[in-house]
Amino acid sequence: MAKKSMTFTDNTTGKSYEYPVLDGTRGPSVVDIRTFYKDTGMFTYDPGFTSTASCESKITFIDGGKGELRYRGIPIEELAKNNTYLEVCYLLLNGRLPDRQEAEAFDLEIRHRSFVHEGLKNLIESFPSAAHPMAILSSSVSALASFYYEHLDINNEAEYQEMARRIIAKIPTLAAFAYRHSLGIPFIYPDISRSFTENFLYMMRAYPHERMKITPEGEQQVSQVEIDALDTIFTLHADHEQNASTTTVRGVASTGAHPYVAISAGISALWGRAHGGANESVIAQLEMIGDVKKVPEYIARAKDKNDPFRLMGFGHRVYKNFDPRAKVLKKLQDQLKEELHLDAKLLEIAHEIEQIALHDDYFVSRNLYPNIDFYSGVILYALKIPRPMFTPIFVIGRTVGWVAQWIEFKKDPASKIARPRQLYTGA
Ligand code: SDX
Repeated sequence: MAKKSMTFTDNTTGKSYEYPVLDGTRGPSVVDIRTFYKDTGMFTYDPGFTSTASCESKITFIDGGKGELRYRGIPIEELAKNNTYLEVCYLLLNGRLPDRQEAEAFDLEIRHRSFVHEGLKNLIESFPSAAHPMAILSSSVSALASFYYEHLDINNEAEYQEMARRIIAKIPTLAAFAYRHSLGIPFIYPDISRSFTENFLYMMRAYPHERMKITPEGEQQVSQVEIDALDTIFTLHADHEQNASTTTVRGVASTGAHPYVAISAGISALWGRAHGGANESVIAQLEMIGDVKKVPEYIARAKDKNDPFRLMGFGHRVYKNFDPRAKVLKKLQDQLKEELHLDAKLLEIAHEIEQIALHDDYFVSRNLYPNIDFYSGVILYALKIPRPMFTPIFVIGRTVGWVAQWIEFKKDPASKIARPRQLYTGA
């Protein structure tokens, strides 16, 4: 069969240029235009990369039209139902789910790596208590590079795995320390008798020197329902192709900088309201609307081009259907309504927004559906996670995706330093 190609014709010179079409195993094919500038003396133009593939990847696949998301080929709905977040971490890092023995060994290693150098405690304590935990997280992860400088030069699989497991294990501890610092209360160290997700909630909530037991009766400070809900939320956030923060991580990887400063840059990029910061803004928006009767007024503002107001938690660059993660979270919301006493008023306002937006032509014609952030906030709110910690929760889930994509970039022989060009319209 003839090799697939695309031909570009320059109408001013009449010259034609042919470029190979490369097919993936799923999703759109790509036109390989790596010689386009050399051939034509022109650049392609695609601000925001709406039509540009920046790399080849085997990690995560999204079908925006069908509303499908797969990690290493496995649908997100299956993983959210059948696997723990740590098993999903193993899958993203190794390309397959672990067997029972591998899962236990991985879990044990992550527990033991969850401690951080005392110097990082001092760094976190140097921040004003009003500092946003995302500022503390990106700074402390960047500082982590100084404590593990050997990861600047990785030469084999064992070193890749050690670097990855280290950062996955330490992020929850740093996030919990940032939260405790914001309250001015003593930090709680990891307890290696607890699972990854339980340990995070424990470090967030425990009283110093008091062991918090998960007991079938009596005062439970960390219930199994909460652990399972948060574990699912971590899984749903684990990776998402070449989103803005992952593109940032790959960009920093391309200059040869330390992997942890690349993750730190990813944390900073995720903080933006248009990206991971949306979950925090959704709750703020629901509280600002405050009454289901005021929803139509805000929907009108979201549609008004002269009004900068946007409906947070709605729309997505890739999904032109329901975000499959949002569907899982919506189901989780319904399951947890009673058990976690979800805030009925916030739920009522969110439901009203969803009902109106899903039938309003402005949203329907632009394929604007609720995304993951629209639903995660109400559950995190019910898990008694304070709002400034919503995006750090996203960081905890996404760190494995960033580090898996960083490793894939480093192993890809076709990788080059990220250096786009421009359309110059200056003096
Ligand atoms: C995440 O990329 C990822 O995968 C990200 C993420 C991940 O897991 O990594 O999925 C996580 O970041 C989810 C998205 C969270 N952000 C929000 O919920 C913030 C609100 N949403 C938007 O700001 C917006 O929808 C984006 C940023 C998510 C997507 O922006 P695009 O793809 O650049 O779309 P656009 O801005 O070009 O919008 C297309 C049209 C525009 O109208 P027109 O100019 O065509 O008339 O839709 C409108 C926009 O004005 N629009 C909205 C809207 N989102 C888009 N109008 C009102 N409210 C909104 N939320």
